[in-house]
Amino acid sequence: MQYIIGNWKMNGLRDEGLALAGALATHMTSEKPEGREVVLCPPATLIPLLAAAVFGSGIRTGGQDCHAAEKGAYTGDISAAMLQDMACEYVIVGHSERREHHGETSEQICEKARAALKHKLTPVVCVGEALAEREAGKAEEWVKEQVRASVPPDAAPADFIVAYEPIWAIGSGKTATTEDIAAMHRMIREAVAAHCTCPGEAVRIVYGGSVKPDNASEILKTQGVDGVLVGGASLEAESFWEIVTS
Ligand code: PGA
Repeated sequence: MQYIIGNWKMNGLRDEGLALAGALATHMTSEKPEGREVVLCPPATLIPLLAAAVFGSGIRTGGQDCHAAEKGAYTGDISAAMLQDMACEYVIVGHSERREHHGETSEQICEKARAALKHKLTPVVCVGEALAEREAGKAEEWVKEQVRASVPPDAAPADFIVAYEPIWAIGSGKTATTEDIAAMHRMIREAVAAHCTCPGEAVRIVYGGSVKPDNASEILKTQGVDGVLVGGASLEAESFWEIVTS
């Protein structure tokens, strides 16, 4: 199974979001791509509308973040229970934009992943190095530490996904080479297996960072890649669908 996850980030008003979801649901219903799990993570405002628009198509819905707490005085936040209540099955946690702009730490992300698991959501736990770590030859060490601190050690591999997203590749048009992706996915698989004491083959790892229709097929064929997390190219139905069917 390859996971094709669209992260709309802070994009999409009602009409365009509905048009995009509707076009993808039509493709999904008529083409039923084999071996593909398609997940859309729209902004929170669109989740219920989108869940209704894709209902019955096989497309899954996810959130872009959740709070670690069950409920309470956390203005502006959204809980895992709320996402579950709106028919979500996935939630992205620890995206580098949350780590950077909201100061989220790996320890907080681990708690968010725990909240997601409690509410039967599959957390997509994001890790990835900045250019400075890569240039200093410290990318593997950095990512390994993020994996150790962000993935709940008692989680079963069937219950979560790790997304490897080198920060320098996000929205930049630069992608990691397939050799680098394969090496990093191998290292992440070993790190999760050791940390969660589970078989490495069972760990699902997707790649993200400037995935486009013209590089998706090569990336999806790369050793150890179980799917892609797509930002910019998920905002246009035909380009996202090309990735789904790559
Ligand atoms: P991008 O974003 O595809 O626009 O590079 C990926 C992501 O941030 O998840």
